[in-house]
Amino acid sequence: MISSILTFALSVSSLPLTAHAAAAVSTLKDAALPRYFGAALGQGHLQNASDPKFAQLAAQQFSAATPENEMKWEIVEPENGKFNFTPAEVIVQFTKRNNMKLRCHNLVWDSQLAPYVTTLPTSQVKQAMLSHIEGVVSHFAGDCYAWDVVNEPFNDDGTFKNDTFFNAMGEEYITLALQQARKFDPHAKLYINDFNIESANAKSDAMLTLAQGLVSKGLLDGIGFESHFILNELPPDIAGNMERFTSLGLDLAVTELDIRYDLPTTDADTTNQAQQFEEVINACQSVKRCVGVTTWGITDLYSWVPSTFAGQGGALLWDDDYNKKADWFSTINALAN
Ligand SMILES: *[C@@H]1O[C@H](CO)[C@@H](O)[C@H](O)[C@H]1NC(C)=O
Ligand SMILES: *[C@@H]1O[C@H](CO)[C@@H](O)[C@H](O)[C@H]1NC(C)=O
Repeated sequence: MISSILTFALSVSSLPLTAHAAAAVSTLKDAALPRYFGAALGQGHLQNASDPKFAQLAAQQFSAATPENEMKWEIVEPENGKFNFTPAEVIVQFTKRNNMKLRCHNLVWDSQLAPYVTTLPTSQVKQAMLSHIEGVVSHFAGDCYAWDVVNEPFNDDGTFKNDTFFNAMGEEYITLALQQARKFDPHAKLYINDFNIESANAKSDAMLTLAQGLVSKGLLDGIGFESHFILNELPPDIAGNMERFTSLGLDLAVTELDIRYDLPTTDADTTNQAQQFEEVINACQSVKRCVGVTTWGITDLYSWVPSTFAGQGGALLWDDDYNKKADWFSTINALAN
């Protein structure tokens, strides 16, 4: 009780000039126009009859969705040639009913990969990748606003990860994957998505070089900055780094935003996190081709953070009880400005 009153007081008093804007619009999606504002949605949460608030908020507040896991290889093609589209279709149908854009995620990634792929002889990996893309992209063709075709291809030092795909095909796997996705859904915007590319560094330099080559072949439409940030460690040059990519003629999307910190939450965490969400929103809004922001979930209750980073949490815009946090208020204010 005390903390929620404090949160509200902080959020309003720290933003006196913009409080009016928040009163004028009550949803993130309206405030974000003409951009979209999205969330990663899990099928289990959307269909949870014991927790109707999740689906209600997803429909009310967001104009885009990314399936949190349901289109990943291990779920959508768990065995060679055996596709399971049922969990993903729950999210596809939800976005259609609610006029939301769908960011489809993802096709080629070394994580959450079906185990059979890693045990194939190297000579069969290319065919498995092309068959996977054909099966999945043709199934969802027309439903996807965008596809994250290749996910997280780089190491932090800017070298390619030597994963199953790189080991089998070298760097060429990226071109082949994009060509195949283009062939089976010519209208979806094709993205490469990665983390730690939100500032100018060895990894984003490598991504920029890769992107230049792919743009010249007409195969790439956008870059995703995942933006899984740590509180008080945001890069200072997000907007400038976005522009390095958009100046190539690419769209730029913030695809997996959250800002985590060590629990328990202090007042300083609350204040700083609100400011830092605002910084990210302002960066996107200052870049013409930054098309939208997606947060990696809705409520802290179901965030991936606590189970991945021990002792950390608090990374999203609603708390465990679906109270709007100070960062919700700062986000809607920044969006509306
Ligand atoms: C469903 O809702 C209940 C009650 O809020 C919660 O305990 C449970 O974790 C939820 N399950 C999923 C998959 O969302
Ligand atoms: C990649 O890893 C494989 C083994 O998994 C190894 O045989 C190969 O030499 C590695 N390639 C590079 C370029 O490091």
